[in-house]
Amino acid sequence: MILAGGFATRLRPLSCSRPKTLFPLVNKPLLQWTFERLANSGVDEAILAVNALTQFYIRQQKPSKCGLKVRFSIDPPKKPLGTAGPIKKAEPLIGHDEPFLVLNGDIFADIDYQNLLNTHKKTNALATMALCRVEDPSCFGVVELCEDDCIKRFIEKPPKGQEPSNFINAGAYVLSPEVFDLIPENRAVSIEREIFPQIAETGRLVGCHVDGLWIDIGKPVEYLEANKLILDSVAHTITNPQQTSAQIRSPVAIDPGVVLGENSIIGPYAIIGQNVKIGKNVTISHSVVFSDAEIADDVTLSGVIVGESARIGRHADIGSGCIIADQAKINENVSMRAGSTVCPAKEISQNIL
Ligand code: GDD
Ligand code: MG
Repeated sequence: MILAGGFATRLRPLSCSRPKTLFPLVNKPLLQWTFERLANSGVDEAILAVNALTQFYIRQQKPSKCGLKVRFSIDPPKKPLGTAGPIKKAEPLIGHDEPFLVLNGDIFADIDYQNLLNTHKKTNALATMALCRVEDPSCFGVVELCEDDCIKRFIEKPPKGQEPSNFINAGAYVLSPEVFDLIPENRAVSIEREIFPQIAETGRLVGCHVDGLWIDIGKPVEYLEANKLILDSVAHTITNPQQTSAQIRSPVAIDPGVVLGENSIIGPYAIIGQNVKIGKNVTISHSVVFSDAEIADDVTLSGVIVGESARIGRHADIGSGCIIADQAKINENVSMRAGSTVCPAKEISQNIL
């Protein structure tokens, strides 16, 4: 089961028009990375726990299912079920035959799911949780461990300074079907605040350490950083755009259909989506440009996110850290101060200083 019904408020305004699970990471939706990893681990079926709007966006974008059988389980209208409620709701779909995997759909994680399942089967656990180590655990679920990796205590988002360790809930669990009986029906239930602490008390919550790439794309800066880390970790992303005399500075990911104007310099760390049109003398580095965007001549972008179908006019001066949401339009010669944000479909015709 993939939990993907959250609202990604910290990624606004980019999340106004797409759920977090459809954010492109190196030109591929996060959900597709997850499907791929599941399929490669021998999983053959996934249930997506979403709200109706997220289901709409997923159906519209149609990310490749990578051979998985995919079904939706939808939260009731205007009543999000939290992180455990959707598991209870999907009980008839999941069944009681065997332990099952639950993933937070907003995490890019290089986790060996088979190893997680095997760890679960080797112990008497009701729940086995993937754990990773972070510098600042206060904005996650944090665990206190016994020597045998049994989780003694689970605290969701403890106050800073009171975290029992640096090991956090990585957002991937194996649950035994008995867990269904612990989740109240027909209301929002938080697995982190109501269910895990309860299982920890019985001694049947077990941790499983994972050490691959693990990224939570919470805020826009983290989203840019996630793209950078993934670009560094996958070797095969460089494609040949229909380029003229543009210069490509690796690492970059440029969709094959991208049109590049003369004397432009792309990279390092530029991720350019499908059908993007880039004019002459454009410089792009450390930035992500979503599909169908248009960037006119003489524009420099560094540390910028440009949303889908957004347009940036000739000679616009876009400061570092700016976010231009989907379909926004920045007119010619406009200057935007570093860190400015433009909401979807807005047109900017005066300087933002
Ligand atoms: N269907 C559905 N309905 N899904 C939901 C709902 C809901 O009402 N609320 C949240 N989700 C999904 C989100 O889309 C996300 O994929 C997952 O459940 C976790 O919810 P978040 O809102 O993203 O929680 P968080 O990031 O603050 O904390 C969680 O993730 C951390 C790891 O990133 C917790 O599980 C922490 O313990 C954990 O450390
Ligand atoms: Mg999250």
